[in-house]
Amino acid sequence: MPDPLRLDPVQETLLLTLYARALDSTAPAPILGDTRSAALAARIAEDTGYDFAKLKLKPSLVTSTALRARKLDDVVRRFVAAHPDAVVVDLGCGLDTRWSRCAPPDGVAWYDVDFPEVLDLRQRYLPDPAHPVAADVTEPGWVRTLPDDRPAVIVADGLLPFLPGDSFRTMVRRLTDRLRSGELALNGYTRFAAWAMKYHPAIKALGIGAAQGFDDPHEPERWDAGLTLTEEQLLTRAPEVAAFPQPVRALTRLVARSTALSRQGARILRYRF
Ligand SMILES: C[S@@+](CC[C@H](N)C(=O)[O-])C[C@H]1O[C@@H](n2cnc3c(N)ncnc32)[C@H](O)[C@@H]1O
Repeated sequence: MPDPLRLDPVQETLLLTLYARALDSTAPAPILGDTRSAALAARIAEDTGYDFAKLKLKPSLVTSTALRARKLDDVVRRFVAAHPDAVVVDLGCGLDTRWSRCAPPDGVAWYDVDFPEVLDLRQRYLPDPAHPVAADVTEPGWVRTLPDDRPAVIVADGLLPFLPGDSFRTMVRRLTDRLRSGELALNGYTRFAAWAMKYHPAIKALGIGAAQGFDDPHEPERWDAGLTLTEEQLLTRAPEVAAFPQPVRALTRLVARSTALSRQGARILRYRF
């Protein structure tokens, strides 16, 4: 008998990104090539009867999810190469296989943070050597589980739109208070992109109504969190777009001509603290 998953709609979004990476890995020219995600999605479907097809993932969501994961992996890889004693914090980690994709050296301490229900799933399906932190990231306190004497890279992949009000900003302030120095990397959503997200068939299928974002990439510099913007990558202009399937590639190339329109799509924001 299948044992159904018990996740609330926000937690269930982890299956959307997992499935996007799984579909990418079976494409003729994968962007991320994460075959472990494909195996994981197949196992979850078999164990729990979860119907991934109900998410109706469009090719554009598959490519953008895979590409942003690849770019955030690059940030982590570069950081741990420069700081072999680094702390990596993956906020809202879901069932991402980032630890194995990045294969950090032994001296790195990796922390996967998500709700307890999600970390229970991780323990069952992805028992890797990362430190699990079972917490609602909008709550205070959990940041004290992180070492405060080592350089840190914080990744938030697909988390920003799901944190209500100004709780993303408060969480970042707590993190940069706790951690000595390092980098924060996230996929940014403009306010329009966050608003429009609820009309995505996949997000609609999960019944999620509200989402957050910010327009000016410099805005987090005004959060009193000691952040300095170091890079805004507009992913419509990434070289990997050449491997996108048609017609997504043609449309992405068209959007790439406009900075304003590209900002509404996937972008990676990096900050130093
Ligand atoms: C779209 S999924 C992305 C998951 C993962 N980063 C990935 O790329 O596959 C969003 C994740 O954020 C987590 N999340 C949302 N709000 C959270 C909160 N307040 N505290 C902890 N985790 C949260 C969800 O449980 C979910 O795993």
